[in-house]
Amino acid sequence: MPGFDGKMLLLTLETTCDETAAAVVSDTLEVLGSVVASQDVIHERFGGVVPEIASRAHLERIVPVIDETLKRAGIPLERLDAVAVANRPGLAGSLLVGLTAAKTLALVLEKPLIAVNHLQAHVYACRVAFGPEVFPCVGLVVSGGHSSLFRCSGPVDFTLLGGTIDDAAGEAFDKVAAMLGLPYPGGPSLQKAAENGDPKAYVFPRPMLDVPDRIAFSFSGLKTAVRYQLVGPGKTDFSRLALSECEIADLAASFQEAVVDCLVGKALHALRQTGMKTLSIGGGVAANARFREKMSEAARRHGFRLFIAPPKLCTDNAVMGAIAIERFKAGLFESLELDIHSGLER
Ligand code: KG4
Ligand code: ZN
Repeated sequence: MPGFDGKMLLLTLETTCDETAAAVVSDTLEVLGSVVASQDVIHERFGGVVPEIASRAHLERIVPVIDETLKRAGIPLERLDAVAVANRPGLAGSLLVGLTAAKTLALVLEKPLIAVNHLQAHVYACRVAFGPEVFPCVGLVVSGGHSSLFRCSGPVDFTLLGGTIDDAAGEAFDKVAAMLGLPYPGGPSLQKAAENGDPKAYVFPRPMLDVPDRIAFSFSGLKTAVRYQLVGPGKTDFSRLALSECEIADLAASFQEAVVDCLVGKALHALRQTGMKTLSIGGGVAANARFREKMSEAARRHGFRLFIAPPKLCTDNAVMGAIAIERFKAGLFESLELDIHSGLER
C-alpha cells in the first residue's frame, strides 16, 4: 500500500560530487523533506574538490542526512515506496557511497531501486519547479563538470546534442576565480566580483560561436585568454599580481559575459536545429544572475519558452532526483547489480 496520504513516496539520494543530499518526494512532486550538506568548508583550503576527501565526508554524512530528511518529511523509513540514487556521472568514490546506501535501503525495505542520471536530473529540476509544460524541450545543463545540450522528448527520453570539448563552464568560472584571487567556491564569488565591473573592458574570445553548424562548447581557451591577459603568454605565476578591485571587477565581468554569450548562442542554435520551442536549464552555473538575465533577454527576442531552475535547485540537491518518479511510472527499475558510471559524460 502506498505511503503517506495514499501517495507514493520516494527517497532520493545525491552524492555525485561534494554535496551529500537526500529528499523525500511524492508522485505528485510534492517535496516533503530535503537536506543538502555542503562540503565547501572542507575543500576550501585546497581550492577545489579533493575526491578522496569528498567520499570520506559522504560516508560520515549520508546516514545523518537521510535521518534528517525523513524527520523533516515526518515519515518513518518503512513508509517509503522506492529508493532512488544518482549513479552517474560523478566522482567514483562519492557515487559509491550513495549507491551503497540506496541499495542497502532497497534490500532491507524490499522496495524498488531506481537509477538517476545526474545530468537529466538537473533539467528535471525545472519540471519540479514549473510543471509538465517543461517537456518536450531542449535541455541545457551547465555545471562544474558539464556544459551539455540535450533533446528532451520527455522526462525519460534524453538524447545528447552536444557539449563541451574541454572544460565545463563551471570549471572555467572556478579556475578564473582562482586566478583572480577570489574565494572558493569560484562561481558565486566571480559573479559577485563582476557586479561592479564593465563587461566590455576586456575583449575575450567566444569560442565555437564562429562555428555555427556545430553544437559544442569550448572554455579552455577562454580561460587561457584570461591567464594571458593577467600574466602574459606562457607564464603561470599569479603570486606577484597586484590587481586593483576595479581591474578584478572588469576582468570578472568581461570573462562572465564571454561565457554567457557562448551558452546563449549555442542554446539558440540547438533550438533552431531541433525546431523545439522550449528551453529548460539546470546546473550550478544557471544560478548565475547575468546568465539568467541574458537567457531571458534571448527568450523574449527569439520567442521561445524559457525555464531556468530556481537558484536553490540549480546547484546540486536531491529534489531534482524526483526524475525517478518518471522512471517508476515507466517501470524502469534496477537490480542490486546496479553499478556507478563515474567520470564525465561527453
Ligand atoms: O551543478 P553543480 O552544483 O555541481 C555539479 O554538478 O558540478 O555546479 C557547480 C558549479 C561550480 O563550478 C560552481 O562554481 C558553479 O556551478 N556555480 C556558479 C554559480 N553558482 C555555482 N557559476 C557562476 N555563477 C554562479 N552564481
Ligand atoms: Zn550537478
